[in-house]
This record gives sequence, C-alpha cells and structure tokens, in this order.
Amino acid sequence: MEERLQKILAQAGVCSRRAAEELIRQGRVKVDGTIVTEMGVKIDPNRHRITVNGRPIQGSEKKITVLLNKPKGFVTTMSDPQGRPIVSSLIKDIDERLFPVGRLDLDTEGALLMTNDGELAQKLLHPKFEVNKTYQVTILGHIEPQKIQALEQGIDLDGRQTWPAKISVREKSEKTTSLHIIIHEGRKRQVRRMFEAVGHPVIHLKRLAYGNLRLGNLSPGKYRFLSPKDLASLFR
Ligand code: URA
Repeated sequence: MEERLQKILAQAGVCSRRAAEELIRQGRVKVDGTIVTEMGVKIDPNRHRITVNGRPIQGSEKKITVLLNKPKGFVTTMSDPQGRPIVSSLIKDIDERLFPVGRLDLDTEGALLMTNDGELAQKLLHPKFEVNKTYQVTILGHIEPQKIQALEQGIDLDGRQTWPAKISVREKSEKTTSLHIIIHEGRKRQVRRMFEAVGHPVIHLKRLAYGNLRLGNLSPGKYRFLSPKDLASLFR
C-alpha cells in the first residue's frame, strides 16, 4: 500500500515524522537509488527500496525475482553442511538476499526462480495456483504407450496419486528416450520417481520452463530479471 514517505520512515522507527521531513529535505533519503527531496511523495515500501544515509530501512527492500538456469551440482538451499555449491552463490550483482522458490535436485538443471519476495514464493508453492513446470527427461529404455498413459493419468507415489501430467516423446536413441513432461505438483524427486515407478530410470533431467517462463538461451549459471508482467503471467 502506498504511504507518504515521511510516514513510512516514522513507522519503520527511523525517527519522528517531522524529523523524517528534515531528512528528506536534506537529501538523505533515497528511493530505489534516487534522492527524493520532494515532500509528500507516496510510495509502496514493499515494492521499493528506501534508504536513509545509504542504509535500507526496516521492511523496505525492493522485491526482486530472477529466473536462474541452475547448473547440475548446485543445491537449492541457503547453506549446505556438506559444503556443496549453493545456488545463491550464483547471484552476483544483487545486494538483496534471494532464496530459491521450491527446489531442484542436486543433479537436476534448469529453470529456478530466486526471489526475496516471501509472499510471492508462498503463493507459487501453493498447489491452488497449479503453476505448470515443464521438464525435459531422458530415461533408460523405450517406454510403452500404456505406461505413458498411466503416468499421465496419475500413479501412486507414497500412497497418493499424482495429479494428471502431460507427456510427449521427443526423441529415441538405441538405449534411451527423451521426453517432455508437464506437471504442476512439486513433490520430492517427483519426475525421477514417476519414471522409476514404471521401470525407466531417469538419466538426465532439466526444467525447461516454470509456468510460461522458458529458459530460452540462458546459459547454465546465468539468470534474468523478471518483470511484473512475467510474474503476473504465472498466475493466469
Ligand atoms: N522432479 C525431480 O525428480 N527432480 C527435480 O529436481 C524436479 C522435479
């Protein structure tokens, strides 16, 4: 919600409203890096980064979300007791601490959202929003159409049916098959376990898209900033 800047500073415990007006007048307050000296400017502290003397005020950080192409061998946690590389170490030029939305296995690569917007992350992880995730899977062997149908309709994993999935076969080699699968759940190692359950271990897994946000030509380890329009498209 938008509030007057001096009120936001006072509510964040920086100083009184009157003292805040003085700070603004003195050019010591910045919004998204730009000094604001005009009085009475209204902004949403949840959407913009407000600093006083260069330091962000409490609760005011610009919400940033990026789409990262997670490389294999990185863990989607904020720290790792085993000392393995963590995805947040790939975010280099952003001051805010971004955390992963959901997870990808150590051996899985591809589209991973990283954000500092807790509300957004919670929404995206809620099954109600059913954001589709598209994976490219390479499995051992050639899978029978009946098994594809079973996976599409839902199979039992941990005593619970998986939600309907969409699968298309893309390529076959002598010993392997490459497919695309779209699911909207995010159970632990779900895609790997689904194919294992029908006798076809996964040998390569990559998430190509999160909703309609596709990796495109983003190289492993690189990311791109998402616009409000990109984010809105996830909830359509
Ligand atoms: N399914 C898996 O098996 N692994 C992932 O990382 C994501 C989906």
